[in-house]
Amino acid sequence: MEPTPKGRDRGHRTVSAEEKTQARQVSLRRIGRLFTPHRPALAAVTAIIVISSIIAMATPFLLRAVIDRALPQGDVTLLVWLVLGMVAVAAVTSALGVVQTWISTQVGQRVMHRLRTDVFSHLQRQSLGFFTRTRTGEVQSRITNDIGGMQSVVTSTATAVAANLTTVVATTVAMVALSWQLSLVSLVVLPPAIWLTRRVARMRREITAQRQRELADLNVTVEEGLSISGVQLAKTLGTGPALIDRFTASSARLVDLELRSELAGRWRMASMSIIFAAVPAVIYLAAGLPGTAGTLSIGTLVAFTALQGGLFRPLMGLLNVGVSLTASLALFARIFEYLDLPVDVADPTEPVRLDPTRVRGHLRLEDVTFGYPGSDTAALAGITLDVPAGTSLALVGETGSGKSTLAGLISRLHDPSAGRITVDGVDLRDLRLADLAAIVGVVSQETYLLHTTVRENLRYARPEATDTEIEDAARAAQIHDLIAGLPDGYDTVVGSRGHRFSGGEKQRLAIARTLLRDPRILVLDEATSALDTETERAVQRAFDVLAQGRTTITIAHRLSTVRDADQIAVLDHGRIVEAGTHASLLNRNGRYATLAA
Ligand SMILES: Nc1ncnc2c1ncn2[C@@H]1O[C@H](COP(=O)(O)OP(=O)(O)O)[C@@H](O)[C@H]1O
Ligand SMILES: [Mg+2]
Repeated sequence: MEPTPKGRDRGHRTVSAEEKTQARQVSLRRIGRLFTPHRPALAAVTAIIVISSIIAMATPFLLRAVIDRALPQGDVTLLVWLVLGMVAVAAVTSALGVVQTWISTQVGQRVMHRLRTDVFSHLQRQSLGFFTRTRTGEVQSRITNDIGGMQSVVTSTATAVAANLTTVVATTVAMVALSWQLSLVSLVVLPPAIWLTRRVARMRREITAQRQRELADLNVTVEEGLSISGVQLAKTLGTGPALIDRFTASSARLVDLELRSELAGRWRMASMSIIFAAVPAVIYLAAGLPGTAGTLSIGTLVAFTALQGGLFRPLMGLLNVGVSLTASLALFARIFEYLDLPVDVADPTEPVRLDPTRVRGHLRLEDVTFGYPGSDTAALAGITLDVPAGTSLALVGETGSGKSTLAGLISRLHDPSAGRITVDGVDLRDLRLADLAAIVGVVSQETYLLHTTVRENLRYARPEATDTEIEDAARAAQIHDLIAGLPDGYDTVVGSRGHRFSGGEKQRLAIARTLLRDPRILVLDEATSALDTETERAVQRAFDVLAQGRTTITIAHRLSTVRDADQIAVLDHGRIVEAGTHASLLNRNGRYATLAA
């Protein structure tokens, strides 16, 4: 699909109000729900935080004792014990920190894993329409860039919260225990810190939303410029330089966004360190004022300012978590948007079980009408057809008359907007999708081969197939000799860096695949029209094997392939204008006779 011109200069426009509210509407509760299965682990993390906070509280008191008692009194034994105590506290809290990081990283990774697999399986269930509407590259970008971005936020968040919270809580408690008056004085840093953080968080979120869209654009350009078909198109149309320009512009906008995002953070950090550095000064001042002078020991003052200084990093760390979480709301919004897509072609809630091995394959279309979303004319209108089990129907008609659309309805790539399609009397919409896929097999003009061995490509159709079954299917599809003749035989790798199969060979591989699935109903959508006459004959023989005993719908451009069909229907602008056998239609001297001439 062509990217809209709007998509290209996205970087220049500001984020609309609508997009802002969208990001805000991602409920924190929904994000929280992702963590519910991990309650025990989170409880363990909390317990560790509390325990290490309590242990860490000892340090300032040990320090005060060193300064106020051990040092002035020259008590070496006390000094050694106090110092040993300080080292022990550090050792224990650090060890607990490692355990904590381990648990919280695990939780973060599991949440991401779940999200990633949910998005993948949900998108997998989307109908073909979704993929037609969505730019290639966009889906990949959301799964890799957006979930990847969230992954770092969620795992680093869990770890940072755990580690920093411990320190902040422990330090604060110790500060209050040492002197609640000085603690009150230290509070002056909080208002500016919170204000700055909120501002930066808001900025970051907007930048993140913009950056992810830009990344998706970049991905689309890569897909359009560096895939086989994309490269071919660019080379033949000479649009390479334009593609490079587009990529360069996208990349430059990303640089700009990253810089702004990074600077926003730095600028806040700088302001905060100035404010923090000023606090000890204020504390000394407070301690020496006429009203308070002499009430605090030197040890208390030193221990207190040491604590206060040590608070900077963890406190900033916690505030940063707030910033990155807010920023990641934009990522969550994009991911939830995908998870919330309704599945338009879905499994029925109460499926009718039709055993795919027992089904006879009587196909009926009853007054079927279908229009593509967004199009005002119906692609198919009032189609009624009856194809008894084991018989063949040929569909002919000009390009755009609706033949492929009809084939898509039979395999449920779309659902009819009116009327119904039944197999052995059961509406397709009442069948489980897996059963339907076992009943209906499709071979079309486009054959998609996976980048793996020939054997695995065939086995993709039926994972439990034995090697013998695979070779039998290939033999029936007239492709076994060719595969066996390759240096690596069935282990030859297919695809861009492997063996390039020609159109006719690919078709025969597709036929072998369909033979392995053994469907009762077979749909062949112009499966041979891209082949030359010579190849077509070989493939046609394979089709004849495939069609034996099955209900077959053949869509053909060349009428030579349809003359033996039990019935032939002529489509025109989505309607059946003629139906009958080859002989009867020729006699009629109507549309079919014209096409045949
Ligand atoms: N995904 C789609 N979205 C909108 N319109 C489509 C789509 N696919 C096909 N059409 C339209 O539906 C009509 C029938 O197309 P199709 O079934 O592919 O015809 P045929 O296979 O007979 O050449 C055409 O007018 C085509 O433009
Ligand atoms: Mg077609």
